[in-house]
Amino acid sequence: MTVPQVTLNDGVQIPQLGYGVWRVPNDEVVAPVLTALETGYRHIDTAAVYRNEEGVGEALKQSGITRDEVFVTSKLWNDKHKAADAREAIETTLTKLGLDHLDLYLIHWPATAKYGDDYIEAWDALQQFRAEGLTRSIGVSNFNPEHLDKLNGAVPSLNQVERHPSFNRAELFGELKARGIALEAWSPLGNQRDPSDLDLPAVKQVAEQTGLSPAQVIIRWHLQTGDIVIPKSVTPSRIAENFDVFGVELSAEQVELLSGLDAGNRQGGDPLTQA
Ligand SMILES: NC(=O)c1ccc[n+]([C@@H]2O[C@H](COP(=O)([O-])OP(=O)(O)OC[C@H]3O[C@@H](n4cnc5c(N)ncnc54)[C@H](OP(=O)(O)O)[C@@H]3O)[C@@H](O)[C@H]2O)c1
Repeated sequence: MTVPQVTLNDGVQIPQLGYGVWRVPNDEVVAPVLTALETGYRHIDTAAVYRNEEGVGEALKQSGITRDEVFVTSKLWNDKHKAADAREAIETTLTKLGLDHLDLYLIHWPATAKYGDDYIEAWDALQQFRAEGLTRSIGVSNFNPEHLDKLNGAVPSLNQVERHPSFNRAELFGELKARGIALEAWSPLGNQRDPSDLDLPAVKQVAEQTGLSPAQVIIRWHLQTGDIVIPKSVTPSRIAENFDVFGVELSAEQVELLSGLDAGNRQGGDPLTQA
């Protein structure tokens, strides 16, 4: 199965479908990441704050997959925005992953509620890391347009933000597109919180029409609206199911139906208050 690649504004290519590992403990992460890699995923999304970079690194090593075949993202945590702290953080991340470079390094949150505009210093540090070859691409996560505006004219390659049918971020999506910044959707399935996007009647209706599962319908919606998407599962059958999404296309009407489900249903943190 060939996963489409998205070319970022710096020329780096990222597989449009990846695999996220938030809330998978370090001592439980090796097996699902190995399953994901065996299934065909070639894009893993972790973060320092997930505390599972060592396990992810172990899985990468055990898989035997060559470094240039897999795209690895990690993220700088909020209390490491000062330049010296950021350097220590990327070095620790690389050591834990057992890698000499990342493919993508993100500022996890602007974290202005606690650290003011320190994220601007973090951005300067990331630019330096890219220049030194410690990461191929640099981006941000959970940035609103007003945060992007303060990066002294720099344009991150990507913004990783919460997006799923009941929280579809149409305005932010358009804004990022206009700026040439790719949108990567976190909690793409809505993180299975209550109410779950998987249970929405329109999602179930499209699932019945297409023969896809509700999760596959939502992943196809992300792919067809142009997101990069990183569903998480520790369940082998779901890891396979979430990857098996390239045989069927949703119709334009079905995509439109799903794009009409926005209910402002934010499940995770808000960039304006997250510390
Ligand atoms: N930048 C950020 O601030 C940020 C924030 C949140 C997440 N993320 C990233 O985005 C990734 C994905 O987001 P997420 O983990 O919050 O949520 P998600 O991928 O939307 O949903 C994960 C949940 O859905 C379940 N699930 C997965 N596939 C399923 C399927 N086919 N059918 C039914 N249920 C299914 C999983 O259960 P099981 O695991 O039990 O199978 C898990 O409970 C994270 O792992 C992380 O890498 C980033």
